[in-house]
Amino acid sequence: MAKKLYLIGNLKMNMTRQEIEPYLDSVAEVANNANNVVGVCVPFVYLCMANKKLSNSKALYGVQNMNSKESGAYTGEISPKMLQDFGTKLVIIGHSERRQMYNETDASVNEKNKVALSYGYTPIMCFGETIDEREQGREFDRVRSQIELGIDGLTAEDVKRMIFAYEPIWAIGTGKTATSDQAQEIISFAKGIIAEKYGIKNEDIVMLYGGSLKPSNATDILSKKDIDGGLIGGACLKMEDFKSIIYTNVE
Ligand code: PGA
Repeated sequence: MAKKLYLIGNLKMNMTRQEIEPYLDSVAEVANNANNVVGVCVPFVYLCMANKKLSNSKALYGVQNMNSKESGAYTGEISPKMLQDFGTKLVIIGHSERRQMYNETDASVNEKNKVALSYGYTPIMCFGETIDEREQGREFDRVRSQIELGIDGLTAEDVKRMIFAYEPIWAIGTGKTATSDQAQEIISFAKGIIAEKYGIKNEDIVMLYGGSLKPSNATDILSKKDIDGGLIGGACLKMEDFKSIIYTNVE
């Protein structure tokens, strides 16, 4: 039987209003015709448009970050409460670009996961090692601590509602992709940490791969046993490429 994959686009800080309008129409159409689950995380300013264009489709949609506070003097920030009026389902949490450029920590990732879950959103919690960590053989330690700290205090039901995304930092936006075996190895390890902590099965956990996923490597990576889909940056910006990944069909 074909595996049902989650294929979620992360638009990052891309697209103008004129570009995203037809793009979201295509996402709705493709999501309705695909056998896989399709999602897209848009810049905040386009959330209202995503709500209009996608809420009657099978596409899941959401944002790329949120503040953990409900309201207050946090200039320039967006609260979880604001997101709820727009049918938000997905919230990317702890993307490596936010960890590296905006000082997000494992503690803030943990707090945001808790808040997102309390609002009924699906956190997409990102984790992954740097190239230095991998070259020094520390990738497993790094992944273990990110996972353990990120889910601290959550219940088994909470983690079953989440989506996790392994994104090795050296593969993001670089054109370098982890081999399918490297991705499978870390994802199976990370699922094992969660499964053991809660006494649940690997199959109860949804975990994606992200990092230069594209039409030419999608089938190889997504056919791996523990990989449940992809978080797609660069390749989701071109609808033809995104579509081709969305139509991946693996056992
Ligand atoms: P990329 O980005 O596909 O452009 O490597 C993935 C991500 O950062 O989520």
